[in-house]
Amino acid sequence: MVINKILIESFVKATERAAYGASTFKGKNDKIAADQAAVDEMRTALNNIEMKGVIVIGEGELDEAPMLYINEKVGSQTGESFDIAVDPLEGTNFTAKNLPNALSVLAVSRRGNLLHAPDIYMEKIAVGPNLPDNIVDLDFTVKKNIELLCKAKSVNPNQLTACVLKRPRHDLIVKSLNEMNVKINFISDGDVSGVISVADPKNEIDIYLGTGGAPEGVLSAAALKCLGCQMQTRLVFQNTDEKKRAEKLGIKNLSKKYNIEDMAKGDVIFCATGVTDGDLVKGIKNHGENFLSETLVLHYSSKTNKIVKSENKK
Ligand code: FBP
Repeated sequence: MVINKILIESFVKATERAAYGASTFKGKNDKIAADQAAVDEMRTALNNIEMKGVIVIGEGELDEAPMLYINEKVGSQTGESFDIAVDPLEGTNFTAKNLPNALSVLAVSRRGNLLHAPDIYMEKIAVGPNLPDNIVDLDFTVKKNIELLCKAKSVNPNQLTACVLKRPRHDLIVKSLNEMNVKINFISDGDVSGVISVADPKNEIDIYLGTGGAPEGVLSAAALKCLGCQMQTRLVFQNTDEKKRAEKLGIKNLSKKYNIEDMAKGDVIFCATGVTDGDLVKGIKNHGENFLSETLVLHYSSKTNKIVKSENKK
């Protein structure tokens, strides 16, 4: 069943408010305060929506007592039932240092349709639209994935660009890409924006590779679904506690490879408002008593793919 388009505006409000909250801490070197401001604003906005919403990806688990915790009910608790994945501030460091690409992000599906992923790491590989199905695979070597992509795009490896989060854990990926002469666009944080960069040819990113947060993985999958791209992921467990947390969320096969449909089934809405200026959208600007915002809005069933520019009261 589709999600009524009318609701889009209310979800946009939620990321706009969160982005505004975070923006008041831009460049103040306090990522915790920036995150808290985004959470508070998003939670208030979500609770104003007529829906039975449940946070399935949020700020943590109930025993950690954050707001927007996993399983927290949001909305009026009347109307339709939705799963909601939130990252009120994606890029806490970016905000604290006033660097580009901080976003407030959420994704919405009908109840039960988003992967309930724990806040652990996840391997990710993503490519853009109009490519043969299942063209890349986490179980292939980097070399094989690049060769397959080259064949599909009729180019040489030195004509491809990969986006990679700059972390020591990616040294082997980087080594393989260097050996093949593939260009690398390193990002220091913010892999939601990094993964989504494969969608638009203007970005000249052919493939995203590497390990980042699982919550960010599910949010990116919702966006890529609307953008007709491909993504494959797998949870990465560092200890038995992380395995137990996944099992508690209902995950039975811990080594499963997820494709987009496993992470975001059916209809989805995705909203990302800029906190600081970025590749996807511009950041919050003050305008007297108001603030200006830009939001990337995607809705799978209505094929909505637009940037919403708004002016709202602070
Ligand atoms: P925060 O905004 O929560 O700080 O996350 C930013 C981020 O870069 C994500 O985009 C990414 O998935 C994750 O952190 C990577 O984690 P780590 O910094 O531990 O490598």
